[in-house]
Amino acid sequence: MLFDSHAHLNSGQYSDDLEKIVEAIEQSDVEYVMDIGYDLESSVKAVEHAKKYPWCYAVVGCHPHDAETMDELTLAMFQGLAKKPKVKAIGEIGLDYYRNLSEKDVQQHWFRRQIQLALELGLPIVIHDRDANDDVMRILKEEGAFSKSRIDSLGDVKVLIHCFSGSKELARQYIKLGAAISIAGPVTYKNARRNIEVVQEIPIEHLLIETDSPYLTPEPLRGKRNQPDYVRYTAEKIAEILGISYKEVARITCENARKFFLID
Ligand code: NI
Repeated sequence: MLFDSHAHLNSGQYSDDLEKIVEAIEQSDVEYVMDIGYDLESSVKAVEHAKKYPWCYAVVGCHPHDAETMDELTLAMFQGLAKKPKVKAIGEIGLDYYRNLSEKDVQQHWFRRQIQLALELGLPIVIHDRDANDDVMRILKEEGAFSKSRIDSLGDVKVLIHCFSGSKELARQYIKLGAAISIAGPVTYKNARRNIEVVQEIPIEHLLIETDSPYLTPEPLRGKRNQPDYVRYTAEKIAEILGISYKEVARITCENARKFFLID
């Protein structure tokens, strides 16, 4: 029982052989995959995949890289998409000051507008944060994204930090605010000390796992294109870190993701 809480089956990297990937997913322990939009076209695709595959759910939104493509009309189209069946969150949204593919102020503007959309629709949000820790946290607070969160129950958590790469101190701050944290393939890499500390630090009730496929392939397959069934390597690594069984990690993180995204 595994839940890949963040994948891009909508990526062009799968356009030639998606059915092969689907077969691999269906033959694996993976029971759920969140297909995550990064612009309008990929969000439409995610919704189509959710309609086609029973184990697939969709998240719609505009990635900070593509913030320059946003306008109010496009936002209204995201709003329409978000009301389709099996759309469970707005994302991935946030800030990326590492590549800065869109201007900072443009990124911030559409990050805020999409948080506002999520709050209006009562949907959780999936956050992308690269080299922008302070601004992401500040904007989430200013927009009241944490206001419905409680620390003791993931059912009320509204914020998921995807592919968490920050320090254990930052993780602790997010947990206090009621957010959930998702760990991806880099936890299996040689230089994963920070990620390992985060796994040790946070309560397991707030932990989700993901592939971010086709990117960030875990060891021992690093270098190959990633795919959702490889999430098991991340689960195995977390089991090793926490000294519990792989099955426990799979079961608990799957339950956490179902609670977060409100999937019965
Ligand atoms: Ni992603």
